[in-house]
Amino acid sequence: MDISQFAETEDGFVHIPVLYREVLELLKVADGPCRIIDGTLGCGGHSSLILKQNRQAKILGIDRDGDALKRAEKALAFAADRVHLMRGDFSDLADLSTEAGWDSVDAVLLDVGVSSPQIDDASRGFALRLDGPLDMRMDTRSPDTASRLLNRESEQALADIFYRYGEIRASRKLARAIAKRRVEKPFGTTLDFAKFCESVLGKAKPGKLPTPTKCFQALRIAVNDELGELERALERALPLLRKGGRLAVISFHSLEDRIVKTFFRHNAAGCICPPGLPVCVCKHKPVLKEINRKPVTAKPDEIEVNRRAASAKLRVAEKL
Ligand SMILES: C[S@@+](CC[C@H](N)C(=O)[O-])C[C@H]1O[C@@H](n2cnc3c(N)ncnc32)[C@H](O)[C@@H]1O
Repeated sequence: MDISQFAETEDGFVHIPVLYREVLELLKVADGPCRIIDGTLGCGGHSSLILKQNRQAKILGIDRDGDALKRAEKALAFAADRVHLMRGDFSDLADLSTEAGWDSVDAVLLDVGVSSPQIDDASRGFALRLDGPLDMRMDTRSPDTASRLLNRESEQALADIFYRYGEIRASRKLARAIAKRRVEKPFGTTLDFAKFCESVLGKAKPGKLPTPTKCFQALRIAVNDELGELERALERALPLLRKGGRLAVISFHSLEDRIVKTFFRHNAAGCICPPGLPVCVCKHKPVLKEINRKPVTAKPDEIEVNRRAASAKLRVAEKL
């Protein structure tokens, strides 16, 4: 499929699903009846392509964002009889699948992180350059917004969040400054927090990502428990896949990619005994085969029309 074939939606937005050619090829959903879980439905971009490529494919589409589900429902209306949409967390994919009457699936796709419509909507509070409430919840029903975390969590807990999820070296300094500032004026908006991060950590050098980028990333990961969700989803997807079924994950930063890589390596390994043991005692058997040892990345023509694709990494494994 050619990039020029992606149509503009009613609101003037052109959605190009990341690594769309590679996902179609490596998920191996070309022909015959098949059941696929799209755990990150978003705009329905990948699902739409799969449903067009294989007229017998059925999709269980999951998203925790109600707006995304509405958008995807429109995008997938052409194949409504082959699509089942559910609002929920992808870590619950096994239960959601049972609820939908599926006991096994041919493929699972996760394209993790936030979508462009979520980032571009100032009221969702994901963007550091658009003023809005410091919210960052993918699921607006969940109780904790980013500002609630910032105004409530202990200094130590905040330092851990910025260090672990943002890899910010001066995380303690930032947490200390937050704890001091919130006593006088609690945090509530994106631009205020972005300016505050710069005032504490300094402005980024030209050509580098703006300072608040990593601070926002860390808060977003914490608010949405993104890494925990990914770990649980991988564990639960494995028993659900049929033999020969494929699991594909697109991630956008090293923290996510490391989780996927570790999970695939562990499950593709035979013996996992500590080195030096004379005989194997673990009896571990491989249950997955890695389709690509190195992550697949976007080609220049895709990056040219979709900057977001530049940091995407796709890993695919097959159930043995
Ligand atoms: C990058 S977008 C997916 C785009 C989609 N593949 C497409 O082509 O339109 C990620 C979507 O996954 C959803 N999401 C992220 N984490 C989730 C989770 N743990 N459970 C359910 N949905 C999640 C987000 O709300 C967002 O709509």
